[in-house]
Amino acid sequence: MKGAIFFSGKYGSTEQYANWIGEATGLPVFSINNPNADPSEFDYLILGSSIIYFKLSIRKWAEVNLSKLNGRSKILFSVSGAGPSDKLERWVAKSFPTVLLSQMDHVALAGRLDHSKVNWLIKLSLWIGSLFNPDPLASKEERYGFDHVDKDSIKPIIERIGQLMHDVVPVKN
Ligand SMILES: Cc1cc2nc3c(=O)[nH]c(=O)nc-3n(C[C@H](O)[C@H](O)[C@H](O)COP(=O)(O)O)c2cc1C
Repeated sequence: MKGAIFFSGKYGSTEQYANWIGEATGLPVFSINNPNADPSEFDYLILGSSIIYFKLSIRKWAEVNLSKLNGRSKILFSVSGAGPSDKLERWVAKSFPTVLLSQMDHVALAGRLDHSKVNWLIKLSLWIGSLFNPDPLASKEERYGFDHVDKDSIKPIIERIGQLMHDVVPVKN
């Protein structure tokens, strides 16, 4: 069975996780911005996406490629500042096609925010957002940045891919 990882991220943490998963499983890794990468060439897909302003950054690509993703998409990993929670699940559910989500496992991974990599407008918006964040620690992290990227946290994804390698039945095109 042929699988692949497609990711959407801007500042490197989602790509880092995608590459770690690729190294651990041997699956090829593609940015969604690679015009030559075609999800319909694979039997199963692992999708990775950052969360930006309460939405999955992969959402538009997922909508455009819905027919190619349907039936193949098995795991979604999100990368965010917010940890696993009902709130995060709601953001994911609201910004991703339901038909895909219903056939996938969602794994929430912790991200990184490096203020030296974002422009002043984003810095300002994060600063303003932090003023309205009711959680004091999350508010501080929004303002000054954080790095919670953790290689060990991909373990459940690696295990699930191990099962998929045996179980997945090819999708008929
Ligand atoms: C402009 C901006 C908006 C963000 N919005 C959210 C958000 O709404 N919720 C959240 O949990 N994390 C948010 N984050 C944190 C990102 O999800 C985190 O930095 C992630 O690791 C980015 O992934 P990347 O490095 O692959 O781009 C935001 C980060 C930026 C820069």
